[in-house]
Amino acid sequence: MKALLLENIHQVAVESLEAKGYEVELLSRSLSEDELVEALAGVSLLGIRSNTNVTAKVLANAPELLAIGCFCIGTNQVDLPAATERGVAVFNAPYSNTRSVVELVIGEIIALARRLPEKIEKMHAGVWDKSAKGSHEVRGRTLGIVGYGNIGTQLSTVAEALGMRVVFFDTADRPAHGNARRMSTLDELLAISDVVSLHIDGRPGNAGLFGHEQFSKMKPRAMFVNAARGMVVDTESLREHILSGHIAGAALDVFPVEPKAQGDPFESPLRGLDNVILTPHVGGSTQEAQEEIGWFVSGKLASFAQHGSTALSVNLPAVNVPVLGSGHRLGFLHRNVPGVLARLNEMLAEQGDNVLGQQLATRGELGYVVTDAAAPVSDGSLEQLVASENGLWVRTWQA
Ligand SMILES: NC(=O)c1ccc[n+]([C@@H]2O[C@H](COP(=O)([O-])OP(=O)(O)OC[C@H]3O[C@@H](n4cnc5c(N)ncnc54)[C@H](O)[C@@H]3O)[C@@H](O)[C@H]2O)c1
Repeated sequence: MKALLLENIHQVAVESLEAKGYEVELLSRSLSEDELVEALAGVSLLGIRSNTNVTAKVLANAPELLAIGCFCIGTNQVDLPAATERGVAVFNAPYSNTRSVVELVIGEIIALARRLPEKIEKMHAGVWDKSAKGSHEVRGRTLGIVGYGNIGTQLSTVAEALGMRVVFFDTADRPAHGNARRMSTLDELLAISDVVSLHIDGRPGNAGLFGHEQFSKMKPRAMFVNAARGMVVDTESLREHILSGHIAGAALDVFPVEPKAQGDPFESPLRGLDNVILTPHVGGSTQEAQEEIGWFVSGKLASFAQHGSTALSVNLPAVNVPVLGSGHRLGFLHRNVPGVLARLNEMLAEQGDNVLGQQLATRGELGYVVTDAAAPVSDGSLEQLVASENGLWVRTWQA
């Protein structure tokens, strides 16, 4: 089978797919719609990053395509309804850069506590200003983490290792890691934190979550970090609180409006303020994260193509099947209507196929059932499934 990887996806993905027997073509750039249609002839697995758009037209002209791996976090560049309608599985790597974000945030907290932005700027301007005024250790200070998911919990562990006290607030019921303390309200967290760091997701209700009211409730001279989502913070309010001195420093990696292309101008009311670190959405951008993403997504593509596992697919029903050790496997993607599973099993029984194990999952309008059998599923069963009105595709594997 052939795999096409675009946009300079990490070499680890090439090696991982080649080791599994794929013929891999790696291109350094993205392809236009027409180029992609041409390049996908005979290709089963496509790997992209954020600059390649997989449109409905591309999908309609790629009959052999089984799966798309987005070697990044987002999947907006893929027409997901069109991919789902054609039974093409889409995978991404939502958590491969967690550690990278945590390390940036830790670095920023220390830099803000030592007022490094000002000190660095002065040194570059040729000014020697040796002073301890306003500089603090982070040891013993309280870090308030808002959003205690993948990133929030790892940050909690690393911050505690630095001797920080950690408190957190999450709308979901999350267990505390280490000695961290759960706060029952956001206000409670804001009132006691020396540093507030946001790690919430981008659900619609979070837009504008942090504005004048929340900054006012923070401790005087506290610091603020946002490496989560730009739309969560009212940057004008933050500017006012920094200028008034209420907020002693801030680090922002994400912004309500971000430049689209490399080199585009960046506008923000936070530009030029003292003790403010601005970074161009690079929290997750490290070589290590790229390698991790390459390993993770190529693994998901291969286990889908070779064993029928749809675990962590963003669009197909999730069936997490183990590697097929022995025997035969049948995967059937179908419309989620009553009676499909009963009909499938009836069909297998009629043909004398002995079922060893079976897993079904549904998601929206689709259902996916994986059946393990001792003997190959008979041609008769396969023909009936392929011809059935509710079927999208039927695949078989054997070990
Ligand atoms: N800066 C970067 O480069 C970068 C890289 C990766 C992720 N991110 C962003 O970081 C954020 C966190 O990522 P993650 O992987 O930890 O996500 P996650 O889904 O694992 O965790 C998010 C947590 O926030 C909680 N939450 C949501 N809304 C909340 C609210 N209003 N109040 C309190 N808790 C709330 C959720 O219950 C969940 O526990 C996301 O917004 C993600 O997009 C940024």
